[in-house]
Amino acid sequence: MVFVFFGPPGSGKGTQAQYLVKKYGFRHISTGQLLRQEIQNKTALGLDIKSHIEAGELVSDDVMLELVKNVFKDKNSEHVIFDGFPRTVHQAIAFEDILSVNNLRVDLVINFEVSFDHLLERVKGRLTCKTCGHVYHEINNPPIKTGVCDFCHGVEFEKRNDDEDSALKRRFELYKTETQTVKDFYSDRGIVVSIDASLAVETVKKNVEKALADLGIVS
Ligand code: AP5
Repeated sequence: MVFVFFGPPGSGKGTQAQYLVKKYGFRHISTGQLLRQEIQNKTALGLDIKSHIEAGELVSDDVMLELVKNVFKDKNSEHVIFDGFPRTVHQAIAFEDILSVNNLRVDLVINFEVSFDHLLERVKGRLTCKTCGHVYHEINNPPIKTGVCDFCHGVEFEKRNDDEDSALKRRFELYKTETQTVKDFYSDRGIVVSIDASLAVETVKKNVEKALADLGIVS
């Protein structure tokens, strides 16, 4: 099955996806992470998109669709979470075609609802493990052992360049003007479940699992 995790920057999409990967072995496709890997590996695409990402702009639909097509060439998994994709209605429509070629469709969209007041504090405190990319928060969601990644035991953490004020402001604007309409696209199909993502991480985990259990995906 294919799940789309939908919500503004910092709403906790990645955090919840990481949890489902660990607990149920779901595959997690974060398009932001795919793009950051291209930048880190200094590929031609990475060099091309670096300034866009750092300014908080969206990467072009054509580039995103090519990246997503490649996801299905790699391997198949029973359950795949798309986190941060689609972000425009054009991407959503083209995604239907990509999925249908692979005999798939979007089965569930989880809409992470959080007021914008919460988001700034979340993004400002975000720390990412430099080795494995696992996401933490300095206060709300720190590693169990201070300074050591729970998963890979790495000891270096970093802040994202696009979490800096002006890029973040632009990301919030684009979410409101471009991305929010994608929710209406899926609402019309009756597959959107909204979650109160302003609650504590553990409570949101339970509510996400409930949405999946209601569809018989987890028990
Ligand atoms: P992307 O990486 O997708 O960023 P985003 O959508 O802005 O989302 P974030 O990663 O900021 O937040 P999140 O919801 O995953 O929250 P997290 O779990 O980390 O995209 C980056 C860029 O790539 C885009 O700006 C764009 O340029 C480009 N891009 C990507 N996809 C694209 C596409 N489809 N089209 C075009 N361009 C694209 O949590 C945030 C913090 O809060 C963490 O510190 C976490 O520990 C903490 N936290 C999480 N949950 C809770 C909770 N319940 N309570 C308290 N704290 C919490």
